[in-house]
Amino acid sequence: MNFKITIEKRQTSKIAEFYPENIGFGKIFTDHMFLANWDGLEWKDARIVPYGPIPLSPATSAIHYGQSIFEGMKAFSHSHDKGIHLFRPLENWMRFNISAERMVMPYVPKELYIDGLKTLLKLESAWVPKNEKGSLYIRPFMFATDDFIGVTPSKTFIFVIFCCPVGPYYSKPLKIKVEETYSRSAPGGVGYVKCAGNYGGAMFPTLQAQKEGYDQVLWTDPLTHTLIEETGTSNLFAVINGEVITPPLSATLLSGITRNSVIKGLRHLGYEVNERPLSILALKNALNDGSLAELFITGTAATLVGIQGFGHRDAYFDVMDQGNNAVSTHIKTWLDNVRHGNIPDELDWNVKI
Ligand SMILES: Cc1ncc(COP(=O)(O)O)c(C=O)c1O
Repeated sequence: MNFKITIEKRQTSKIAEFYPENIGFGKIFTDHMFLANWDGLEWKDARIVPYGPIPLSPATSAIHYGQSIFEGMKAFSHSHDKGIHLFRPLENWMRFNISAERMVMPYVPKELYIDGLKTLLKLESAWVPKNEKGSLYIRPFMFATDDFIGVTPSKTFIFVIFCCPVGPYYSKPLKIKVEETYSRSAPGGVGYVKCAGNYGGAMFPTLQAQKEGYDQVLWTDPLTHTLIEETGTSNLFAVINGEVITPPLSATLLSGITRNSVIKGLRHLGYEVNERPLSILALKNALNDGSLAELFITGTAATLVGIQGFGHRDAYFDVMDQGNNAVSTHIKTWLDNVRHGNIPDELDWNVKI
């Protein structure tokens, strides 16, 4: 399947307003965006236009019923070949379609997703930060556009990709609150997909945790609230007695691409990694007997960040006080080096545009 992509260029680039030293996260958008429309039968009108508002009817069904999904991925500037490389883009494309299927949305062919992405990035290559801390965050998303307020799957959709040059999402180790009252998802629900509602529903508990001095919520399993799942933006890893542990995938947590890269990367570097259930009790016991060395989170936006400590009920448990960052520092450095092209890409993860 071939899609002809038309390009309407912005007259004057906004790049002069862009300060690579202090870009923060998610506030600066590049000059262009990619769009395509599903008319109920096929994808049409693949186009790149200047970044800007998309006119919508107030009855647009995504706004009312949440048929809306997204991805988060990154491109990096490589020093050795001066090229722009996407990190594991096919993984995001596949997860996007898993989300689309669950939310009764059309399949997005690889050619549309990847060619749209590459054509857009070729145009925006000057926006990819050249420093080691920066990258270009890419947000592909799709939402229902039917002008109809009956509760039924939309027939029409729009697929969009825009980009933001970004720095680190978190600037310091995090304090996380073990959540036992609220649930992010439930068995049979949509926790394993990247649909917009998962994030809207998490905002209230996250805000409560922030008022209590935490940075993020650590979600627990929705049935017993005893097993660790993930945080609001990332997956979690623990290092106990030299074993790296991360909760197994299930219908209630997101299968992070960084999680998968960290598991594969650690095994490649010779570590033992197990995907197995991890309870709050086991975590507290490991902290008490001194066997818990590290807790860290992984995500495309979050990258890889250490956990300072966690709050459970009324008590706070500091992990970094007694731990070390040996494993997380090793894998973070290795992953950063692979993504920035500083070392050979032995697992074949970078895709040059
Ligand atoms: C809820 C949740 N869990 C985990 C992740 C990490 O996924 P990834 O590594 O693919 O970015 C994210 C980020 O997208 C997320 O939103």
